[in-house]
Amino acid sequence: MKFFIDTANLEQIRDAQNLGVLDGVTTNPSLMAKEGITGRENILKHYVAICDIVEGDVSAEVIATDYDGMVKEGEELAGLHKQIVVKLPMIKEGVKAAKYFSDKGIKTNVTLVFSAGQALLAAKAGATYVSPFIGRLDDVSTDGLNLIAEIRQIYNNYGFSTQILAASVRHTMHVIDCAKIGADVMTGPLSSIEGLLNHPLTDIGLAKFLADYKKGN
Ligand code: G3P
Repeated sequence: MKFFIDTANLEQIRDAQNLGVLDGVTTNPSLMAKEGITGRENILKHYVAICDIVEGDVSAEVIATDYDGMVKEGEELAGLHKQIVVKLPMIKEGVKAAKYFSDKGIKTNVTLVFSAGQALLAAKAGATYVSPFIGRLDDVSTDGLNLIAEIRQIYNNYGFSTQILAASVRHTMHVIDCAKIGADVMTGPLSSIEGLLNHPLTDIGLAKFLADYKKGN
């Protein structure tokens, strides 16, 4: 299972990278705005800064919603750095653009996916990643993890190579449940990754080991 961090915050990306378990980064326009990154030029520079920190795939989202605009913008993004994955919204034009980029061998991430049907279309278009938003489904009393399970079954049935990127992950149990179901990738905040470290028995056990060592030395 790959671990992506879902942020545009360079410090958090560095922290996750330094932990040694990071496989990539996902961003979106809201995450960029949260870091105060505005203006096309600054946004493009920021993507390159992220690529310079991590070794894996970095999803960069297009703003255009028409096919020609998505293709133009996606080509510009893909040209920035070899680690860039073009992130496209799950709309009709986005599916067409995913097919275009897939035919050209450019990696894509189809985002804002909330149903198994949408995920099937993304796979048919040859998307590299599909991003079902599990936290946002949970927010509206719908089981986000169930969607991951449905997509896993459908992709397994036909051997689709599109990777299931569980997105809108909010906490450690989302990560663990996605791993049990067989999501290929999860993307979430740094807290959802670092939270996996925590267990009180680990802390108690370590304190005892150190205290016992001190007694004999
Ligand atoms: O990866 C998708 C993500 O950025 C959305 O997360 O927490 O805003 O639902 P969230």
